[in-house]
Amino acid sequence: GKTFVVTGVSSGIGSDTAKLVRLQGGRVIGIDRHVPALTLDGFVQADLSTPEAIDAAVAQLPAQVDALCNIAGVPGTAPVDLVARVNYLGLRHLTEALLPRMPEGGSVVNIASILGAEWPQRLEAHRALAETAGFAAGQAWLAAHAVSQERCYQYFKEALIVWTYTQSQKTFLARGIRMNCVAPGPVMTPILGDFVQMLGEERVQKDAHRMKRPAFSDEVAPVVAFLCSDAARWVSGINLPVDGGLASTYI
Ligand code: NAI
Repeated sequence: GKTFVVTGVSSGIGSDTAKLVRLQGGRVIGIDRHVPALTLDGFVQADLSTPEAIDAAVAQLPAQVDALCNIAGVPGTAPVDLVARVNYLGLRHLTEALLPRMPEGGSVVNIASILGAEWPQRLEAHRALAETAGFAAGQAWLAAHAVSQERCYQYFKEALIVWTYTQSQKTFLARGIRMNCVAPGPVMTPILGDFVQMLGEERVQKDAHRMKRPAFSDEVAPVVAFLCSDAARWVSGINLPVDGGLASTYI
């Protein structure tokens, strides 16, 4: 089987992804700040918000990683700096550290959000941020281009999509490694309460009602697993919505 590294493994989408790919014969090394309740093939407890902690975690990971599922994330009710660190800068740092350990055919899946759909409006900024080399350089760029608390979650999901697009071109052509995003709509996990706080009850209810209900995390996990599988070997540089069609109702 393949070796998967799954972040955010202790809850929600990460937990269901780990369960599924293990059932399918994969070996899963999880990373989270909280110890998971589920059985894994390995677990590294780490706070994915600093490059030092990420490097320490990377040192404990296997020499070959076939798939990296970047699922850990914090809501926009967290401080802007933490949202930047966990949802973007740290994710990028971990990915860059693991890419050299990935063989041809390897896959990286990043969890974005349908809330990251407005990136074309800020493409220049997201491209410039994507071009910063490393965690500290990214932070320095952000210090000069402040992001508001109100939009920080959306902003860093947008930035993640643009980074995934630009990186996937390089990693696929040079090394045959695919990078894709999955963009869920509302999912029934502990984070959903924070989204209500972030966006307002009305917006979240409206979105959930359009689709009749939020998604369950085990409806997102199979899509992540598919993108990591060889069946998806010609799928690279996309952002795949898993929202029951919600995004299409916005037009
Ligand atoms: P969740 O809150 O159930 O799981 C998030 C996991 O990430 C937790 O286990 C948490 O401990 C871990 N985590 C957070 N910060 C960390 C850090 N600094 N270091 C290590 N681990 C950390 O949430 P859910 O819903 O499973 O979220 C997974 C991803 O899906 C996130 O990136 C989120 O932004 C995204 N998403 C969720 C949606 C939803 O409605 N639930 C909608 C769209 C995107």
